[in-house]
Amino acid sequence: MSSKQKLYIETLGCAMNVRDSEHIVAELSAEYALTEDRSDADLIIINTCSVREKPVKKLFSEIGKFKKQKKEGARIGVCGCTASHLGKEIIKRAPAVDFVLGARNVSKIAQAVKERGFVQTDINHDETTYQFSDSYQNSPYKAMVNISIGCDKQCSFCIVPSTRGEEISIPEDMIKKEIEKSVAKGAKEVMLLGQNVNNYGRRFSGEHRKIDFTGLLQSISEVEGLERIRFASPHPLHMDDAFIEEFANNPKICKSMHMPLQSGSTEILRQMKRGYSKEWFLNRVAKLKALVPEVTIGTDIIVGFPGESEADFAHTIDVMRRVEFDQVFSFKYSPRPNTPAQHYKEQVDDDTASKRLERLQALAKEILDKRMAQAVGSTEAVYFDELRPEGRVAGRTDNNRLVLVQGSEELLGNTRKVKITQSHRMSLDGEIVE
Ligand code: 5AD
Ligand code: SF4
Repeated sequence: MSSKQKLYIETLGCAMNVRDSEHIVAELSAEYALTEDRSDADLIIINTCSVREKPVKKLFSEIGKFKKQKKEGARIGVCGCTASHLGKEIIKRAPAVDFVLGARNVSKIAQAVKERGFVQTDINHDETTYQFSDSYQNSPYKAMVNISIGCDKQCSFCIVPSTRGEEISIPEDMIKKEIEKSVAKGAKEVMLLGQNVNNYGRRFSGEHRKIDFTGLLQSISEVEGLERIRFASPHPLHMDDAFIEEFANNPKICKSMHMPLQSGSTEILRQMKRGYSKEWFLNRVAKLKALVPEVTIGTDIIVGFPGESEADFAHTIDVMRRVEFDQVFSFKYSPRPNTPAQHYKEQVDDDTASKRLERLQALAKEILDKRMAQAVGSTEAVYFDELRPEGRVAGRTDNNRLVLVQGSEELLGNTRKVKITQSHRMSLDGEIVE
């Protein structure tokens, strides 16, 4: 038997891309084994992100680096959102690239690898878009499963609808089968993935029973052996009462919620075409906190969106103070091709946006330090999934806080009660109590 060729894969961007990279590895597994040494790889794949301009620039500098470091005859492929968005431009700009495969076309990877100059970036839906022959998981303890692909929202800043195409929900039985497979292999936790998960069920590729995201959560929690369900990302607009009540009452659903705010100003939200107001967002948070006092809430915020005044920004700060987010991903607005907001007048100057970002991040840290310190003394159920240096093992609380304890590999894949003894900004220390 001849030994396999080596594949090096670099993943930029969101959880969706991480999952797509897992699919790529699975599809190529008959012929390729993963390597972490890019200079030893026969095939180098960059799975890209184009949500902001920075990662797009990074792509071309990475290609330049790979070109120098790669061994004779090794090939380079570009997949993901930037592949969708720039298509064959990439090969024109960087002739070292052998093939380009869009975010919605990753199941064609085996074909792309075989044909030099292969470029496929269409975003129309076809039945084969998300059919994969095999499965692969970065972690045996946690599975990621796509529940929908694409996005039907038209947020005015966002390039995703043009790179991942129209939103299609994956049928419930396919999702459940995939989860069952992972559970059979030892995963007790699943992360359901979609650009807008709680819009699930609007459109399927074939005939399908009517089911929404709340129904899907109920159905998935029937999978035996599955202990924890997480999902990313829900949209605040679709957080109706039934969804929040299911979140609160279903013991398998982990009590951390990502709620991408984007802006606290109702006027800016309107310009962003987000479909909700500051009041709606705060109302949903209030309901969530009333039903689930231990909930942790994460968010995404954009500063410096066109037209954002000091008063608009003050609304964002106000929401931050009221909600006390446990995790904030914050970004300076970056004008993107194929988006309406790039043409909006009143673009905010870079200096102003940078200063707002600094203020926002300083506040986010202050809140986080306070919230993490409040966890000290509590006892939490921690699901362990990763060995760390110095005899430590890492896991997550139900509400998604990172916890480190002294221990060894027999903890992996198990949930134990842990008393939290100390807090840091990004993690908690604890001792196992049972
Ligand atoms: N500029 C800055 N941030 C953006 N995001 C999406 N598009 C842009 C953009 N043009 C952010 C949003 C989104 C996250 C994934 O990336 O906050 O929720
Ligand atoms: Fe982009 Fe809005 Fe869709 Fe999220 S919901 S992927 S921000 S268009």
